Amino acid sequence: MVNWRRLLRMSNRSFLAFIFIFSMSTTCLYFIYVSITLNSICLLFPSANTYFFMVQAQGIMLRDNVRTIGQMIRLYTNKNSTLNGTDYPDGTNSSEYLAQPTTYLPENFTYAQNLPCPERLPSMKGLMEVNMTEVPMEVIEMKFSKFFGVEFGGQWKPKDCRPRWKVAILIPFRNRHEHLPILFQHLIPMLQRQRLHFGFYVIEQSGSQPFNRAMLFNVGFMEAMKDLDWDCLIFHDVDHIPENDRNYYGCGQMPRHFAAKLDKYMYILPYSEFFGGVSGLTVDQFWKINGFPNAFWGWGGEDDDLWNRVQYADLNVTRPEGEIGKYKSIPHHHRGEVQFLGRYKLLRYSKERQHLDGLNNLHYSPHISLSSLYKNISVDLYPELAPITEY
Ligand SMILES: *[C@@H]1O[C@H](CO)[C@@H](O)[C@H](O)[C@H]1NC(C)=O
Ligand SMILES: *[C@@H]1O[C@H](CO)[C@@H](O)[C@H](O)[C@H]1NC(C)=O
Ligand SMILES: *[C@@H]1O[C@H](CO)[C@@H](O)[C@H](O)[C@H]1NC(C)=O
Ligand SMILES: *[C@@H]1O[C@H](CO)[C@@H](O)[C@H](O)[C@H]1NC(C)=O
Ligand SMILES: *[C@@H]1O[C@H](CO)[C@@H](O)[C@H](O)[C@H]1NC(C)=O
Ligand SMILES: *[C@@H]1O[C@H](CO)[C@@H](O)[C@H](O)[C@H]1NC(C)=O
Ligand SMILES: *[C@@H]1O[C@H](CO)[C@@H](O)[C@H](O)[C@H]1NC(C)=O
Repeated sequence: MVNWRRLLRMSNRSFLAFIFIFSMSTTCLYFIYVSITLNSICLLFPSANTYFFMVQAQGIMLRDNVRTIGQMIRLYTNKNSTLNGTDYPDGTNSSEYLAQPTTYLPENFTYAQNLPCPERLPSMKGLMEVNMTEVPMEVIEMKFSKFFGVEFGGQWKPKDCRPRWKVAILIPFRNRHEHLPILFQHLIPMLQRQRLHFGFYVIEQSGSQPFNRAMLFNVGFMEAMKDLDWDCLIFHDVDHIPENDRNYYGCGQMPRHFAAKLDKYMYILPYSEFFGGVSGLTVDQFWKINGFPNAFWGWGGEDDDLWNRVQYADLNVTRPEGEIGKYKSIPHHHRGEVQFLGRYKLLRYSKERQHLDGLNNLHYSPHISLSSLYKNISVDLYPELAPITEY
């Protein structure tokens, strides 16, 4: 064993010794950085110095990490960002976003019935109040069908201009009855301000199989397309409440990930392939990727598979910039819902499975009913409904 203290006491070797000690850890760089001034103290108090330096270096490292995290948060939440509003530090460019005008139309903007509704309307004010208080469904139904003109069954379209997109909003559902009115309360006024033609589809999984979010989306898509030739599909979790009405729920040239910043992840994109919560594809894009996979039973993984499908179809994902992509999630527990542990294995074969599992192997028998604010598609799902031939 090396006698460190004796080594350190030798003034001409002390510097090298410290470098040697600290080079074994990441602390090394910080030590070298501060050592020039602190080395003399070390020589005066040789017995206390090792510990002293450790503490110093670690303190600096800690402060630096905190600073880095702080910078990340600022960058992602776009406060004092040096990137001037573009939140694509990882190189994911949104050509769509760059092509859009950067300002919203003035209040006195006049609409024309025969012209397309603009995308940046004066009615879109930015951050909205989010109220998570539970409210009875009847109250919300009454409010929106009576005073906000939503048709029985959950459709609405603007009358003062031609809606740019016909948007079907698909909400997979099980056991979350108290979340639904909260979502409608925020989403309906927002979509009306965005002058979109929209319709709500709640796809409820009956039966006792694990929750299959992805397959519910496939079912919802097939059923929605029987109603109307929707051109844009929004895949919306029931517990995700948008915080900004400038998060425009129209589609684009590329699939879009709307829920870029979730409060539960400190408004940071957890990883650059994250595609969960709320996403949107055009009908053509959705056919092109063969929809969602059907093989993900239980929560987790299906959104990553969708990301892979989008990549393999040579598409890119865009995200709203800055504060626009903020969402609050209604707090809850995964009540009796099981995690899908087989997801990592399936994700390895995303590419092979893409054309075997999805819209093209889907079978189901739904129970459909109309409610005031949505079409209720209730469906029992089990693996035999989406057989996969070997690959
Ligand atoms: C950061 O932004 C706030 C207002 O959003 C401003 O008051 C502050 O001066 C800014 N700080 C820097 C370093 O730019
Ligand atoms: C951000 O905007 C300021 C002025 O608005 C400009 O001076 C600066 O160069 C911009 N920074 C970047 C990275 O574009
Ligand atoms: C992103 O867009 C900017 C401006 O159009 C361009 O200069 C840059 O090269 C693009 N980056 C990537 C990774 O495509
Ligand atoms: C609308 O308001 C802007 C200022 O906000 C003004 O410059 C413009 O003349 C107004 N247009 C009409 C048609 O009133
Ligand atoms: C939130 O919603 C509840 C129920 O609609 C209402 O009673 C309450 O006043 C609202 N809170 C705020 C702060 O708007
Ligand atoms: C997707 O993005 C990559 C890298 O930013 C780019 O090379 C590619 O051309 C893009 N694909 C499409 C279809 O725009
Ligand atoms: C949907 O309809 C089924 C009956 O088919 C019913 O049991 C369920 O409660 C309804 N769900 C919602 C969310 O309205």
